[in-house]
Amino acid sequence: MPPADDVFRAPKGVHDVLPPESARWVDLVARFARRVRRAGYGMVVSPLFEHVEVFERVGEHTDVVAKEMYAFTDKGGRQLALRPEGTAGVVRAYVQHHPTPPWKVWYVAPNFRYERAQKGRYRQHWQVGVEVLGTDDPGADVEVIALLDGFYRDLGLTGVKLLLNSMGDAESRPGYVAALREHLLAHADALGDEFRARVHANPLRVLDAKVEDWQDVIERAPQLTEHLSEASRVHFELVQEGLQALGIDYELAPRLVRGFDYYTSTTFEFQTAALDAAQNAIGGGGRYDGLAEQMGGAPTPGIGFGAGIERVMLALDAQGDAPMLGGLDVFLVDGLGAPGGTESLVLVELLREAGFAADRAFGGRSVKAQWKAADRAGARFGVMLGRDEAARDAVAVKDLFSGEQVEVPRTGLVAWLQARTAGEETTA
Ligand code: HAM
Repeated sequence: MPPADDVFRAPKGVHDVLPPESARWVDLVARFARRVRRAGYGMVVSPLFEHVEVFERVGEHTDVVAKEMYAFTDKGGRQLALRPEGTAGVVRAYVQHHPTPPWKVWYVAPNFRYERAQKGRYRQHWQVGVEVLGTDDPGADVEVIALLDGFYRDLGLTGVKLLLNSMGDAESRPGYVAALREHLLAHADALGDEFRARVHANPLRVLDAKVEDWQDVIERAPQLTEHLSEASRVHFELVQEGLQALGIDYELAPRLVRGFDYYTSTTFEFQTAALDAAQNAIGGGGRYDGLAEQMGGAPTPGIGFGAGIERVMLALDAQGDAPMLGGLDVFLVDGLGAPGGTESLVLVELLREAGFAADRAFGGRSVKAQWKAADRAGARFGVMLGRDEAARDAVAVKDLFSGEQVEVPRTGLVAWLQARTAGEETTA
């Protein structure tokens, strides 16, 4: 029996994005697309669902795969799953299509996880992200981290902290995992079955556990960065040098393991002080140098990140000065009162062709109601087609931010608006 949700409401943990909020999404994605394009990334659109094995490669013992995946059998008997994250599908596409490396791609896509729904944690969430396949150059790590850092700056987001760690390579890992397991098992009797089971399955998964009683043991655990191979240590140092050269502040976070088993070498997470600790990650990523091979491809290093759109929006909201993005430039108020008249139709199209975001009311509303609609739309200017002005072949233009009103000849309207908005952000 399904739970007694109202079936004509969105299911628990998912939501609609409606105007005007959706205009901020468009703006956010446009800024992301502009920044990554300047760095040579091409867009990739991968399927919303894949064979379940593709996602199992991200870690069979992770919560995301073991507990939260929307897996199902299709009518042909195939075992499929909705994408819980973006990396696995992109790596599968790389292995399938053999593009020329380095392959630099970006995406904007929804992901599905059966999580405990709360503010900032949803069952469908959206990410913008990048992946770079085919190079293990530490310069690629720095580029990827700098892109995400720059994106937050583009949005005017403040109070963001970058945490950095290295998970080591295949050579570093076994020695560390053995030392960690030994340390954790020495305390397992006191900490119970769940703890012991996790240590046996993958002791790294204990390091990021939030269970209060475990924290003491976790804090005293050996650190991965003390067990790095020579190659991993040098790589990690070069990444840090690169970040310093770009003036990007970071904090070393030896217990940052992140939620997937594919990570090797560099891992990072951006956190905001504006959200509760359990949901304060607004983006994160790292290297996954073994993943392509695990999907049957040639050994191919890779690195990328995903940033949660909803969480970035919440952080902007919490900042209080979130810019009103994507409002209209012009709202046309028809004071001629001729139902079915074509004047406002023609003028609004003229403005749109000139590149302005322009809208109008429908259905012969009163002038008062139309001005209200202009305010509600967050328009920068109201342009009124009134009888008196029409007699002079002019329009009345009101700056809806300052309240100032002037008369402008109709033929000069576009030039007037262009001059007034020069240097301001309009869609023109
Ligand atoms: P992730 O850390 O699981 O990494 O997700 C990336 C970001 O998505 C998080 O930092 C957070 O902002 C957002 N996010 C994750 N889960 C939720 C949720 N339930 N509700 C709202 N927002 C959420 C990945 O997904 C990796 N694929 C990142 C990556 C790319 N690593 C390498 N390449």
